Amino acid sequence: EKGGYEHFMLKEIYEQPLAIKDTYRGRLLVEEGIIKLSGVEDNMKRFLNADRIIIVACGTSWHAGLVAEYIFEDLARIPVEVEYASEFRYRNPVITEKDVVISISQSGETADTLAAIKLAKSKGAFVFGVCNVVGSSIARETDAGAYTHAGPEIGVASTKAFTTQITLLTMMALRLARAKGTISSSDYRRQLQELELIPEKVKEALKADKHIQSIAETYKDSRNMLYLGRGYNFPVALEGALKLKEISYIHAEGYPAAEMKHGPIALIDENMPVIVIATKKGHYEKVVSNIQEIKSRKGKIIGIVTQGDVSVRELADHVIEVPETLENLSPLLTTIPLQLLSYHIAVMLGKNVDQPRNLAKSVTVE
Ligand code: M6R
Repeated sequence: EKGGYEHFMLKEIYEQPLAIKDTYRGRLLVEEGIIKLSGVEDNMKRFLNADRIIIVACGTSWHAGLVAEYIFEDLARIPVEVEYASEFRYRNPVITEKDVVISISQSGETADTLAAIKLAKSKGAFVFGVCNVVGSSIARETDAGAYTHAGPEIGVASTKAFTTQITLLTMMALRLARAKGTISSSDYRRQLQELELIPEKVKEALKADKHIQSIAETYKDSRNMLYLGRGYNFPVALEGALKLKEISYIHAEGYPAAEMKHGPIALIDENMPVIVIATKKGHYEKVVSNIQEIKSRKGKIIGIVTQGDVSVRELADHVIEVPETLENLSPLLTTIPLQLLSYHIAVMLGKNVDQPRNLAKSVTVE
C-alpha cells in the first residue's frame, strides 16, 4: 500500500508530479488556450461581480490560501482576504451577498472550516469549495466547487494536497484573469504552457533528495530553525516551518524575509539554521541582502535557489536547486525540498512520520 516507500509521507511527496497532472488533466487545454472548471464557468457572474474574495481554511490549506491571495490579486486583480476559519467564525465578520468565499480543505471535514462556510452562507455569500476528498462534508455544504484530484493523502503531514490546491487555485485565477481582461493573451498562454511543465520540474526538484538527506544529517539536532521567503514564497516559508514542527518536533518559524530585522534577527547565532527561499524571480536581490544580514551574524544558511544560481551559492552554507519557472508558479517547486528536509530529519530522529503525536489527519473538533 505504501508502494515500496518507507512511509506514506514519502510516497505522497513523490506522487506530486502525477497528482498535479491529475489536478489539471482535462481542465488545462494549452493548445486551445482554455481552462475548463465547470464550478467556475457556471458561476462566472458571481465571481466577476464579487467585491472581494475571502479565503477560509486551516493549517496547510490556509498556507495554500495565502499563495492564492498573491495569485488572485496579481493576475486577476481581485482583492483577497485570507482567514483562519477558527478566527473568522467567531469574530462577527462583515460578509455580504457580494462576497465570494473560497474554502480550502484536503479532507473536507475540518470542523472550523465547515462552520465558517455555514456562517458565510447564512449571510448570503457564494461559497466555493476546493476539496480533495470527494463527497466530503465541505464538498456537499458549498454552493459549487472543484476537486483537487490528488488521490488519498494518508500522511498526517500534508504534502500533495498543498501543491494540488495551489495548482487548482492558479487555474481559477487564470480563468478569472482572462474573463476580466487583466492578463494579456501572450502572458496567459505563457502561464498555461509553464503550468503544464510543472510536473516534470517537480520530478527534477525531487532529484535533490540525496543531497537534502545529507543536509538533514547536519542539522537534525538543532533546537530551532527559521524559514524565510518573500512574495509568493513567504507562505512557502510558513509551510516549511509547519512541516518541520509537526513531524520532527523541532521548533521552527516561518517569516517574511524582510520582517527579520523587526525582531527575529535577535535569535540568529552560529547555532541557528536559516532556510531561505531565494529563487531568481521575485525580489532576488532583496533576499540576497537578507542572506548577508544572517551571514554577518554567523547564522547557517540553507538557500533554496534556481538552477545555476551564483550569488546565493557564494554566501550560503548549502544550496538546494529547483528548476526555473514563472514567479507565481515557484511555490510548486520550492515547497518540494522543504518537504523532503523535514521528512528526513524526522526519520533520522526516529519520529513517527505518518502519525505524529497529538495530531489527527482531519480535525473534526473545533
Ligand atoms: O483537511 P484540511 O485541509 O481542512 O486540514 C487542515 C489542517 O488540519 C491540515 O492542513 C494540517 O495543518 C496538516 N496536518 C498540515 O500538514
